[in-house]
Amino acid sequence: MGFVQAISDGILTAFIPLLEVRPEFRGQGTGRRLVLHLMAQLDHLYAVDLSCDDALTPIYERLGFTPGRAMTQRRYGRQSGWDG
Ligand SMILES: CC(C)(COP(=O)(O)OP(=O)(O)OC[C@H]1O[C@@H](n2cnc3c(N)ncnc32)[C@H](O)[C@@H]1OP(=O)(O)O)[C@@H](O)C(=O)NCCC(=O)NCCS
Repeated sequence: MGFVQAISDGILTAFIPLLEVRPEFRGQGTGRRLVLHLMAQLDHLYAVDLSCDDALTPIYERLGFTPGRAMTQRRYGRQSGWDG
């Protein structure tokens, strides 16, 4: 169906590196439910950060995030997670 993940120090901060919904399940509220489920587990933390493309900022704003500034590097040749 899809997945979301967070990396956290368990005390103050967490970072959400990736949210992904399989194409056949998109547009049905799956991504929203995944993020809400994860955020409930991170509710005790001071900061929860993620970075996303501009087109996706409305999704996260509706989930309670505010825009910020992020610095990123992307190696698109490695986007599939393996070299093959
Ligand atoms: C982005 C993604 C996770 C959204 O998942 P989804 O299950 O289709 O999202 P939902 O059905 O829960 O929709 C949540 C909201 O986002 C909006 N939305 C969904 N995909 C969108 C897109 N590509 N661009 C803009 N808005 C989008 C929906 O209209 C909905 O709006 P609402 O809150 O007003 O109802 C999914 O399209 C995906 O896996 N994309 C490829 C990977 C990706 O870009 N991940 C994000 C990395 S930060």
